[in-house]
Amino acid sequence: MAGGEQVVRNKQVILKNYVTEGLPKESDMEAREGSIQLKVPEGTKDAVVVKNLYLSCDPYMRNRMKKLETSSYVASFETGLPLSGYGVAKVLDSTLPDFKNGEFVWGMTGWEEYSLIIEPDRLFKIQHKDVPLTYYTGLLGMAGMTAYAGFYEVCSPKKGEYVYVSAASGAVGQLVGQFAKLLDCYVVGSAGSKEKVELLKNKFGFDAAFNYKEEPDLDAALKRYFPEGIDIYFENVGGKMLDAVLLNMRVHGRIAACGMISQYNQGRPEGVHNLMHLVGKQVRLQGFLVGDFYHLYPKFLEMIIPYIKEGKIAYVEDIAEGLESAPAALIGLFTGRNVGKQLVVVSHD
Ligand SMILES: NC(=O)c1ccc[n+]([C@@H]2O[C@H](COP(=O)([O-])OP(=O)(O)OC[C@H]3O[C@@H](n4cnc5c(N)ncnc54)[C@H](OP(=O)(O)O)[C@@H]3O)[C@@H](O)[C@H]2O)c1
Repeated sequence: MAGGEQVVRNKQVILKNYVTEGLPKESDMEAREGSIQLKVPEGTKDAVVVKNLYLSCDPYMRNRMKKLETSSYVASFETGLPLSGYGVAKVLDSTLPDFKNGEFVWGMTGWEEYSLIIEPDRLFKIQHKDVPLTYYTGLLGMAGMTAYAGFYEVCSPKKGEYVYVSAASGAVGQLVGQFAKLLDCYVVGSAGSKEKVELLKNKFGFDAAFNYKEEPDLDAALKRYFPEGIDIYFENVGGKMLDAVLLNMRVHGRIAACGMISQYNQGRPEGVHNLMHLVGKQVRLQGFLVGDFYHLYPKFLEMIIPYIKEGKIAYVEDIAEGLESAPAALIGLFTGRNVGKQLVVVSHD
């Protein structure tokens, strides 16, 4: 034991093998026991040791479970090592003046009880603690910033426009819809169950919502909800949904390509047929990554914290208890098991 420092058990969830295509299985991951020293090792510069409290399950993690040969915006996980992702944690030891012992942080950490984070480049100090700390896995974290940047920066929204959001009850979608309502837009969302459709209408204030699984003809469904067409499409799903939306965009419409979850388990992505409509309707289709927008985080907090306190923004979380439940919670994103933001509690304090 180096320097007589305390070494403790460290439960972890590791990736056992890469999953090229298809729905991942719980057995592709494994809970195991490691150990960790609760001090930054001597000689390690710019590092923190944290106790992980809440972990975020995010769809992009599916891509990290693949052995990515070509250049990708994310790196593959390493087999045999804990998965990594966004989370909320408490600093136990630090060599960085910005992070002090006992402070709470959110950002990239490991799927384990304790993590040593060396040269953290995406770690934010939590300053507002009068809101639930779990919110920093979603609403006040990466998902919130994605909704904020995607809607306000990429979609260039205008008051009263016609807005469509897919995967609308999820971590990102539920916020996009509420942001659009704050701007007096007409907002319709789609989701994969009756319960989620009810949430969209009754909890998040969408003007209308539909269950895409019960619509044999997505084009007809969109024409029903948008007889005059769509100004803004917040794209979370891809595939057939994108194809149907392309037929229903209005002149000078905008599509923010946030994600395409229907494609993440496919070996070969589906083709999209209606792209020519971008030309005739002069539609802007723009992909974006939240990582490009973190400089706006203080501005986002300035807007969102009062809205939360005034009850103008609602947020639904789906909370799984215990690190052991993390693999099933992650996989559940791809079957629609989660209702709202999926997170995992590692420890409550
Ligand atoms: N660009 C960025 O920087 C960025 C950042 C964060 C997230 N994203 C993307 O944003 C999207 C939403 O992420 P999130 O965190 O908010 O996830 P989420 O919506 O909370 O969870 C995923 C949801 O996607 C839906 N889904 C799963 N498979 C589907 C399929 N085959 N077809 C249609 N819907 C399907 C399910 O809801 P239903 O029950 O409604 O099917 C599921 O609950 C994802 O595409 C993600 O990759 C992008």
